[in-house]
Amino acid sequence: MVAEKIGTTLSQHIIETQKDFPQASGRFTRVFNELATCGKIISSYVRRAGITAEITGKKGSVNVQGEEQAKLDVIAHNIFVNRLLETGLVAAISSEESDEIVEADEENSRNANYIISTDPLDGSSNIDVNVSIGTIFSLMKRKTPLGERVSKEDFLQKGSEQIAAGYILYGSSTIFTYTSGHGVFCFTLDPTIGEYLLSHSRLKIAEEGTTYSVNEGNRKFWNKGEEELVCYFQGNHAENDKPYTGRYIGSLVADFHRNLLKSGIYLYPKATKDGKQDNGKLRLLYEAMPLALIMKEAGGFSSDGEKDILEIVPTEIHQRVPLFIGSKREVNLAKEFLHKYNP
Ligand code: AHG
Ligand code: MN
Ligand code: MN
Repeated sequence: MVAEKIGTTLSQHIIETQKDFPQASGRFTRVFNELATCGKIISSYVRRAGITAEITGKKGSVNVQGEEQAKLDVIAHNIFVNRLLETGLVAAISSEESDEIVEADEENSRNANYIISTDPLDGSSNIDVNVSIGTIFSLMKRKTPLGERVSKEDFLQKGSEQIAAGYILYGSSTIFTYTSGHGVFCFTLDPTIGEYLLSHSRLKIAEEGTTYSVNEGNRKFWNKGEEELVCYFQGNHAENDKPYTGRYIGSLVADFHRNLLKSGIYLYPKATKDGKQDNGKLRLLYEAMPLALIMKEAGGFSSDGEKDILEIVPTEIHQRVPLFIGSKREVNLAKEFLHKYNP
C-alpha cells in the first residue's frame, strides 16, 4: 500500500510505492531521491538569490533557443546534469540549457536505463524579482539497447511513454510534485528538517475551471479563435457573461501549480512575442509533456489546440508547441473555438 498519510516523507512514499510493483528494482527510488536532492540544492540557491551576486543576473551567454541565460539557469542545469548522470542509472539528459543531449560517461552509462528531459529553471525572468520559479522533469526509458550509446532519437518518444514526470516549485515554500502514473502527489520541503513531507495526496483538478492564464500582451497577434476564447473567459461572449479570474505569473510552473489547485486553464497560443504565427514559446519535451502527464493524472487535459499533448511524437529535442492545459471543460472549449475558425 502506498504511503499516503499527510506528513509522510518523500523517500518513504517512494519506497512504499515501489513495493507495489514487483518488477521494480529500486533504481526508480534512487533516481527519485537524486531528483529530490537536486531540488533541495537548487532551492537553497534560490533562497540566497539577492544575497550574493553569483546567483542573480545574466550570465552573458545565450542558449540554443537564442534566449539569454541567467546565472541560476546554468547553475541549476549543472546540478541536475552532474548529480543525475553520476547515479549510473541515467544514460543522458536533454536540457533547455544545452544544444545537444548530455551523455553519462562510459562507466556510468553501462547499466543506465533511464533518460531525463528537463527545464532546470523555468521562469528565469522572475529570478531577480522574487517571483516563484521551478524545475520541470520528465523520466523515460531509453530505446537504444544497453551497451550502445544513446542518441537524440531516444528522447523523441511521445509523452504517453513517460515513466514519471514532476516539478519542483520554489515559491513561498518549495514543493516537489510528481506522478508515476498512479495519481499526483505534492511534497512540501520543511527547511527545518530538510525533508519533503506529503502535503497533497492524489490531487485532482476540478472539471470546470474558474481561472484563465495567458500573456495578454500578445493579444494583437491572436487569431480569431484565440480572441473569441479569451472574450469568453472575460464574460464578453454570447455564451458567457460571467468573467473568470485572470492570473498570469509568467513562470509556467507556478501558473500551472496554481491552476492545478484552484482549477482553470493556462494557454500559450501559436504566436510568439514578435507576432510570428508559429508554435508559441513553450517546449514540448521538458515543459508541455511532463506537465501534460501530471494534468492527465489529476483528471485534467492538455492540447496543442488540436491534438492531445501526450500523443505528439517529437521530431526535435527543443521543439516548441502551443499549449492549452488545465480543467477538462476549458481545454475542450479552447479546442472548439480554435476549430470553429480553422476546421
Ligand atoms: P524559461 O524561463 O524556462 O525560458 O521559461 C519561460 C517560459 C515560461 O515559464 C512562461 O510561462 C513563459 O515563458 C512566459 O512567456 P512570456 O513572457 O512570453 O509570457
Ligand atoms: Mn521554461
Ligand atoms: Mn528554463
